[in-house]
Amino acid sequence: MKVRKAVITAAGWGTRFLPITRSQPKEMLPLVTKPLIQYSVEEAINSGIEQIIVITALGKRAIEDYFDRSFELEYVLEQKGETRLLQEMRELSDLVDVCYIRQKEQLGLGHAILTARGIIGEEPFAVLLPDDIIDSKVPTLKQMIAVYEQYKTNILAVERIGSEDTINYGIIEPGKISDHIYQVLRLVEKPEPSQAPSDLGVVGRYILMPQIFDTLEATPPGKNQEIQLTDALQLLLKQQAVYAYEFDGVRYDTGTPLGWLKATVTFALRNPDFGQELKEYLHQLL
Ligand code: UTP
Repeated sequence: MKVRKAVITAAGWGTRFLPITRSQPKEMLPLVTKPLIQYSVEEAINSGIEQIIVITALGKRAIEDYFDRSFELEYVLEQKGETRLLQEMRELSDLVDVCYIRQKEQLGLGHAILTARGIIGEEPFAVLLPDDIIDSKVPTLKQMIAVYEQYKTNILAVERIGSEDTINYGIIEPGKISDHIYQVLRLVEKPEPSQAPSDLGVVGRYILMPQIFDTLEATPPGKNQEIQLTDALQLLLKQQAVYAYEFDGVRYDTGTPLGWLKATVTFALRNPDFGQELKEYLHQLL
């Protein structure tokens, strides 16, 4: 069955971005000219996804407003003769079929995904964590869908991480299948470098089979009393093959101020309108 639906989880508190996230969803922080979440939405669309389900929570209404149509704004732009902007604003709200589910209690990533069960039904689906911005020629999700088409099972995106960083990732024990594709034999959550079974860390893109929902239901609260996706995947890999795919691209963790800054500078330097000027400015500073 085709991967037609994608879940974008945007209900977390964003504590690493406090105090900004007291009143502003971190998913709406700008990355040069667009809010962070738009990169995941565009990646999903460019990967052939037909329906996007965004998981939100209290205080995240700005996300829903952003992808909605604003007749008032369109009227103002029309009056001002701003036809190009008007066109862009219309295109934005017509991007794709987006629906929203409110996670009423922030009980973890696993719980957030579980709230989409009714809309997903019995089909494979994608999950994108909007903090992870991946810069790649072919959208990462599209690369993963191609791997899914071949193996028809769960696919996790992995990347090689520095050994000192294992404590920040789920690390897989890989069984090599082919170039860049591994079977996940074991998944260890945030191990000390000496305990890590490899240097392949799981990042925020997944293709999951619908069986994950039963597994999530059966997963007791773990770290921070949250339902952890990693715990559910550990259960799942006892019943169903879970593969890992080392994607082709560069990932930025924009969920932290430093990661967000790195992504901002990298993307801004490429901007055709002001990239060159920014480069000169940065040279002056350094
Ligand atoms: P994180 O662990 O990065 O948490 O969530 P967070 O709240 O976004 O950020 P920090 O750590 O407090 O700074 C991973 C993903 O899971 C989603 C988040 O929105 C993010 O996409 N999430 C997390 C939910 O949707 N609901 C939750 O209850 C928890």
